[in-house]
Amino acid sequence: MTTTQPVRPGEWFDTGMGLDDIDAGQFRMDITTDRYTDPEYVRRERDSIWLRVWQVAGRESELPEVGDWKEYQLLDQSFILIRGKDRQIRGFVNACRHRGNTLCHGKGNSKRGILCQYHLWSYDLEGKLKGVLRQEENDLTALDKQGLGLLPISAECFAGFIFLNPNPDAEPLAEYLGEVMDLLSPYHLDEMDIVLDVREALDCNWKVVMDAFEEGYHISGIHPELLQVVMVDPSTTRYRFFDKHSVSCAPFEVAGIKYGLEEQLEGIMKLPETFPSVTASLPRFQELIGGYRDETGELKLPDGTTPRTVLQTATRETLTGMGFDVSGLTDAQMSDNHGWVLFPNFFMTVRAGEATVILAQPHESGDPHKCYWHIISVMWLPDEYKDALRTDHIEVEEPGSFKYFLALQQDYEQMPRQQRGLRNNRLDHMSLVKEEVVIAHYHSVVDRYLSGATTSEDRQ
Ligand code: FES
Ligand SMILES: [Fe+2]
Repeated sequence: MTTTQPVRPGEWFDTGMGLDDIDAGQFRMDITTDRYTDPEYVRRERDSIWLRVWQVAGRESELPEVGDWKEYQLLDQSFILIRGKDRQIRGFVNACRHRGNTLCHGKGNSKRGILCQYHLWSYDLEGKLKGVLRQEENDLTALDKQGLGLLPISAECFAGFIFLNPNPDAEPLAEYLGEVMDLLSPYHLDEMDIVLDVREALDCNWKVVMDAFEEGYHISGIHPELLQVVMVDPSTTRYRFFDKHSVSCAPFEVAGIKYGLEEQLEGIMKLPETFPSVTASLPRFQELIGGYRDETGELKLPDGTTPRTVLQTATRETLTGMGFDVSGLTDAQMSDNHGWVLFPNFFMTVRAGEATVILAQPHESGDPHKCYWHIISVMWLPDEYKDALRTDHIEVEEPGSFKYFLALQQDYEQMPRQQRGLRNNRLDHMSLVKEEVVIAHYHSVVDRYLSGATTSEDRQ
């Protein structure tokens, strides 16, 4: 029977490069350590990367109403994002055009526009200067006012995320993300709700955070419990590199590698500790597995059926049954998490129905040994669960006071330890192994930005 199924973007996985296909020699595998410790490097990154790239500044759902605004702080720069009357989100420099006072702090709503507290100049939601105190007496004509609107920056939305670029003449977001948009669209991330939103200052450089999520090489060392479900096997792991971004995946399949069937099932049953939305699919998973047990209870799976493929069937049926459209996703995307790196600071692990994003942000002090990580987990929820699972933003003030889910907690504890090691003067570079090729690609993009050589042509 020939299939009429249209090609699903997730099928890239079948033709993606395995570790053996990758020529790691195209990237530098020795990464200099000054990029994690040198304050001069922070200044160069600020000018050459941060002020010139698209970066995620939050979720669209944070600004649901006309007039909702939020501040986005980036090193010593501050921006505001505001939802206008036309429902479009716009971005501006967070400074009054009169004498520069900061306009917004935190989050809020100002339906009628933004009012500067200092001398009461006011701006409409599109950033136009609206009112000037004693305008006539101060010789400020309508013509003068036209040039004194808020300074715009670039802002666009994709997948429910608000992207911002401090450069007002930035290339469109679609150009920056390129093919990434087509590959992520079938997940319908814009229809998902925030179920975890935590930000905390860490004692490490922001790139230490990025590096930590760009390889699975550390699973054996600090996440041994995950070995029951995922094993970085060079023959099944897939990679794809774009001009600035990348995606990789190690299938949730340990069959025949180390564990027996029952241990794999156990591993799947424990998945919700790290991937909570799997919970919804487990009853159907158990039902399907039950159908494969003989009268003695022994599990006999037909050829080609594994715990992973059963999880895929259960997930597709469950999500579809709840009303979520997963028709654009492949079977592998029902079970496997894909790890996306969007330059410069966005890592996302995503599978059907849920995603966790880690945003690494430099610290406003400019201290290279400090940064923030901002964790945003989103999940597709049927309407009846939305209120119960809605969560507020948590800003962790007391280090260690927030307990992350297990795998994240383990990463959280590791990162400051790495930074302490990187501070040693004698250690001038790190030495990557091939399994860490995503880190090598990532730093090659950092280097291109710092040298001013960035192009938008794809590297497939
Ligand atoms: S600084 Fe804003 S009105 Fe004067
Ligand atoms: Fe980790």
